[in-house]
Amino acid sequence: MKRTKIIDLFRPELLGKEVCVMGWVRTRRGNKHVQFVALNDGSTVKNVQIVFDMAQFTDEQLKPITTGAAIKVDGTLVESMGKGQSVEIQAGALEIFGTADPETYPLQKKGHTLEFLREKAHLRPRTNTFGAILRVRSALAFAIHKFFQERGFFYLNTPLITASDCEGAGAMFQVTTLDLNNLPKNEDGKVDYSADFFGKSTALTVSGQLEGELGATALGAIYTFGPTFRAENSNTPRHLSEFWMIEPEVAFFDITDNMDLAEDFIKYCIRYALDNCRDDIDFLAEHYDNELVDRLKFVLDNEFVRLSYTDGVRILEESKHKFEFPVYWGADLQSEHERYLVEEHFKKPVILTDYPKEIKAFYMKLNDDNKTVRAMDVLFPKIGEIIGGSEREENYDKLSARIEELDIPMKDMWWYLDTRRFGTVPHAGFGLGFERLVLFVTGMTNIRDVIPFPRTPNNAEF
Ligand code: 4AD
Ligand code: MG
Repeated sequence: MKRTKIIDLFRPELLGKEVCVMGWVRTRRGNKHVQFVALNDGSTVKNVQIVFDMAQFTDEQLKPITTGAAIKVDGTLVESMGKGQSVEIQAGALEIFGTADPETYPLQKKGHTLEFLREKAHLRPRTNTFGAILRVRSALAFAIHKFFQERGFFYLNTPLITASDCEGAGAMFQVTTLDLNNLPKNEDGKVDYSADFFGKSTALTVSGQLEGELGATALGAIYTFGPTFRAENSNTPRHLSEFWMIEPEVAFFDITDNMDLAEDFIKYCIRYALDNCRDDIDFLAEHYDNELVDRLKFVLDNEFVRLSYTDGVRILEESKHKFEFPVYWGADLQSEHERYLVEEHFKKPVILTDYPKEIKAFYMKLNDDNKTVRAMDVLFPKIGEIIGGSEREENYDKLSARIEELDIPMKDMWWYLDTRRFGTVPHAGFGLGFERLVLFVTGMTNIRDVIPFPRTPNNAEF
């Protein structure tokens, strides 16, 4: 018989019918007359209860059904008298695919801490919590493509191996085919990359933006959605060494268009998750964060505050709040500052614009004051920065002057500068950290819990 997913068992037309379910056992309990098995197959956070009438089954048959075992059950779907479920399956036939020794299977029934589950990252997708998170993550990825495709953006795949450092933060993972124990050297003692497969020094990308600009200045509007890598040693609940980023880039866009797009986009994704993942979100809210649904709705119902970095810093300076890091004009804002503006002062998401040029990347458009650039960071409750973006400097002379000023090797940037040499246009874009969005929507507090296999300093087991 064909398998029915547990999520489909709740359709009224299946009531009274024969069904076949396959999944992993969460619990088994009961007595010598009747045994109840809670089964989950990953299609939903809901388990289905399977009722074994022990007049038809032997103890011996059911003995291997312990937590974690994989089974197949054919039976009749009936209304349930038990609380917490509308339907259950009256078991007819049982097949055991694989057992899970209770002595060694780590995910026994008791609720595990998230810390414990991080140690068991290879098995944690089998818990209700990680099932819920991973389904929400998948739905959000779909929503992202849907949002951009419906608006005529083209999905552009940018390289993961690159020779350019988009953010200039010097936090790149080197990629080389050279023997690290025997690196060829030039006369001046520097590594000679000409012998490398790529013929030059390469690294894993920190952002697809620069190539994204090539796409936008040809196709009009593109978005990227792929993994990015940062070798910064930040051990925080909001940083990963490998994270996914969505980077739309649009020709003929200014910073206001960019802010409108960012706000519409993020609201669309949150609404999509609320409309399509309600069981999972409610489960996570119940177990980890009572205010989750209210917070999501609050973001949807309110316009984001838009203000300049300069005004933001003034508010922070005038506040009586004791910050760990000092705040003054020119300082790079820390997450405590961002969260103060969002959570304490405005109590709404904030888009902060026009940052000092010294603390932002080389490609941002210089304002007339010659001191600030047309940057925009979207700041969220509980998260801090969720999006970073800007209007780009489209003027060839200004951009190459900035590149020179920052000592970025010109020879590496010729292809990028060609966008400004030939048919340059005003354009803008931004990057959304996918895991920060998933953090916000699931109410989790540690970014390691919203990506299936987190890569952080000292963490690359498999
Ligand atoms: O602010 P960032 O560094 O901006 C860029 O990379 C631009 N090139 C984007 C663009 O304009 N196209 O990164 C963008 C976002 C941040 O706002 C944050 O959400 C996320 O990426 N992010 C990280 N997420 C997880 N771990 C890290 N180490 C992250 N670094 C940035
Ligand atoms: Mg940023």
